[in-house]
Amino acid sequence: MASVVKINVLTVPAEQREVLEQRFASRAGAVEGSDGFEWFELLRPLEGTDQYLVYTRWASEEAFQAWMSGPMQAAHRPAAPAGEGEGAAQRPAASGSTLWSFEVVQSAGPKQA
Ligand code: HEM
Repeated sequence: MASVVKINVLTVPAEQREVLEQRFASRAGAVEGSDGFEWFELLRPLEGTDQYLVYTRWASEEAFQAWMSGPMQAAHRPAAPAGEGEGAAQRPAASGSTLWSFEVVQSAGPKQA
């Protein structure tokens, strides 16, 4: 079965980048153990956009849906990182988000030596 790629597109104002990255860093491990989970990358924009991409790849749509309806909630529970007050914890660093869905049709990695 073809893997599916789910990319959450987060619009992040320049002054919120560090906060966003810190929050992701403090959620390390939040998705790795999930059934059908294959890959995660947080992609910081270098130029041309203020949108971060949260790249995730799953063995199937069902695996992604199962994560969304359960463990995902834990990964997104607001936490108050050191140095941030209660109020700060409630305010998302991102000002918007959009979910993109793709099916993997072809992929390649480097040739094994
Ligand atoms: C494709 C699957 C995902 C969806 C649909 C999703 C959904 C969202 C949404 C709607 C937001 C914006 C709301 C907000 O800023 O609080 C967000 C932010 C965030 N997500 Fe996800 N997410 C996904 C994957 C992940 C994964 C895999 C992790 C952890 C490894 C994660 C951790 C976070 C964190 C830390 C934020 C930042 C909260 C902030 O802006 O301060 N997300 N996500």
